[in-house]
Amino acid sequence: MLDRSSNMKFACRVGDVAPSKPKIVQVGPMSIGIFELEGGYAAMLNVCPHRAGRLCEGPVCGTARATDRTEFIYDREGQIVRCAWHGWEFDIKSGTCLVDEMLRAKTFPVHVEDDQINVELAR
Ligand code: FES
Repeated sequence: MLDRSSNMKFACRVGDVAPSKPKIVQVGPMSIGIFELEGGYAAMLNVCPHRAGRLCEGPVCGTARATDRTEFIYDREGQIVRCAWHGWEFDIKSGTCLVDEMLRAKTFPVHVEDDQINVELAR
């Protein structure tokens, strides 16, 4: 049961989200992507901090990571969303941009109750 005095808002049902296919929902005036991650769910504003592309509609993927040798490996599969507009990559859980940690996509705390996924909007 949602506390109506809180800023918790219903987003979607658990069955609406798949591991590599986020559900884009409208919560009030905001478009929000709901992602299924290993061990839970995450919510991210569907607006890229670069030039306002629809960030959550980009592919869920991993990223290239440098090793201590002179090579790169593909890592973090399923933890990254890549904006379809210019390819910037963001950590789904934290919203951190991988090439510039000072840049973040807006994320929201997620609470699951029974089969309902709720997002906590800022006060
Ligand atoms: S608008 Fe997202 S990378 Fe440019």
